[in-house]
Amino acid sequence: MNRTPLNHGEIPRIGADKMALPKGIQRTRSLPDPALGALWDSIILDEQLKSQLLSQAALNFTVRGKVDRTVLPLHGVILLSGAPGTGKTSLARGLAHRTAKLFPTSNFRLLEVEPHSLTSSAMGKTQRAVSDLFSQAIAEAATGGPTIVLLDEVETLAADRSKMSLEANPIDIHRATDAVLVQLDALAEQFPQLLFLATSNFPEAVDSAFMSRCDLVLQIPLPDGKACGQILSDCLTGLGQTYSGISKLIISPQFERCAQGCVGLDGRAIRKVVANALASTPETAMDPNKVTPDHLLQAIQAAKQHRSTKGKA
Ligand SMILES: Nc1ncnc2c1ncn2[C@@H]1O[C@H](COP(=O)(O)OP(=O)(O)OP(=O)(O)O)[C@@H](O)[C@H]1O
Ligand SMILES: [Mg+2]
Repeated sequence: MNRTPLNHGEIPRIGADKMALPKGIQRTRSLPDPALGALWDSIILDEQLKSQLLSQAALNFTVRGKVDRTVLPLHGVILLSGAPGTGKTSLARGLAHRTAKLFPTSNFRLLEVEPHSLTSSAMGKTQRAVSDLFSQAIAEAATGGPTIVLLDEVETLAADRSKMSLEANPIDIHRATDAVLVQLDALAEQFPQLLFLATSNFPEAVDSAFMSRCDLVLQIPLPDGKACGQILSDCLTGLGQTYSGISKLIISPQFERCAQGCVGLDGRAIRKVVANALASTPETAMDPNKVTPDHLLQAIQAAKQHRSTKGKA
């Protein structure tokens, strides 16, 4: 059989030759990784939700190996769902780091799956690629030690079979979903030290049998007024380190109006709005120290306007 060896010690590190990675795996790294810790901290989210996530991930590595699956049928899958730009992928990567930090003596690894590289227009190829990924690459990594797998945009791999149209090779996709489910069951049985962190913008497009296998489905909300203020302030503080003139925006009397104006935008959009404010005029673009609270307010209004017209379209 043509198997790609993927023991923990053999997995190439980031920056290593990508050709050496098995098909479907975009990147691997050993955990903990402080860069991912910074990601976790950068996502402003209700502390209770962060704690719930971390607790569920920790439970996977404490309890699963000790309790029979007939008692507690854990599959080792956590799904983060929510609108685009709400921080799901960043949180999932950060969660992998934080989980590994709880078990300092264990040799954790993170595998990041690139679902689009598995889907193929050739009949039968997707199912085969999915099966190989789970039963070979992921299984071999899990044999080597505690493993966390990021399944970004999981609706691509576990598409809702009940909603498939007859276009775009549905039989193949149908079989790919079947393969994911079969493999998840098999891996859950065999590897209690394996955790999947899945994300989706379209939970309604994810197969219900996949949803049913999730140990936790967490909806990541759009930031509320307070969180918008924190994201804005975090972004402006970061910029202030390079352009000291930007720091004054945080203490301006209009800051609170800016924060409230951001309600309805996701975290990514809020950070982009700041970039738009810096690009308000050629002068601010050439010297971002010249940006004013009015530039920021106008950029926020433009983003909100764009969003509301898009919503109506
Ligand atoms: N709650 C938040 N707090 C701070 N920054 C945020 C927040 N949400 C998103 N961001 C910022 O937005 C950017 C996008 O985040 P990320 O890619 O994790 O979102 P996502 O939910 O995975 O998006 P998509 O659904 O489009 O894949 C990141 O730079 C992140 O820092
Ligand atoms: Mg994402």
